[in-house]
Amino acid sequence: MRIDIISVAPNLLESPFNHSIVKRAKDKGLAEIVIHDLREYGLGNYKQIDDTQFGGGAGMVMMIEPIANCIKKLHAERTYDEVIYMTPDAQTLNQGTANTLSLRENILILTGHYKGVDQRIRDKYITKEISIGDYVLTGGELAAAVLVDAIVRLIPGVIGDEQSALTDSFQDNLLSPPVYTRPSEFEGMKVPDVLLSGNFPKIDEWRSDQAYKRTEEIRPDLLEE
Ligand code: ADE
Repeated sequence: MRIDIISVAPNLLESPFNHSIVKRAKDKGLAEIVIHDLREYGLGNYKQIDDTQFGGGAGMVMMIEPIANCIKKLHAERTYDEVIYMTPDAQTLNQGTANTLSLRENILILTGHYKGVDQRIRDKYITKEISIGDYVLTGGELAAAVLVDAIVRLIPGVIGDEQSALTDSFQDNLLSPPVYTRPSEFEGMKVPDVLLSGNFPKIDEWRSDQAYKRTEEIRPDLLEE
């Protein structure tokens, strides 16, 4: 999978993609992530990329030309399955969306800053808009890093133990059950007997029960979906 990201703060994206699972995916040749500095497409001597809003109001808007020029250049090089704009005024990312996107070949992600991008960019080029939650970040870079992490770990072959991505929270709309490791007793707190029993059907049943209870208590909305 190839993921292109357009950003005005490319250095914000360096660290998240050079560690852990995303790095492993890149090293294995399963994911290629290319960052494009929007400033290089800025207008005039000052490489301008933003301007005041028509109609007045606080905050700058990212201009149409630099973004359109960058997107056009990338479109000329390959076909994108999805052109995604990271923005708080969109549907919230969930595991289903991450699963779907992990099957795509080429994805282009546009990150915004300030008041966001000129609406005409969204109308013309964007095929999907994604928020990572109901709060406003300084820019879309961290949101893009979250999205890329959620997608890349699902690409077949990225996680060694395939089972571990499949049993994550949300994969079946349930939160994960509690997990334990050695020691079996710490300061009087014991690991549930069933996990030490070696009875695997019973262990599976216990985990399902716990996942359901946890979901009911913390995220009952997931059970309604
Ligand atoms: N940009 C700023 N806030 C954001 C959010 N919550 N989700 C996605 N992109 C954003």
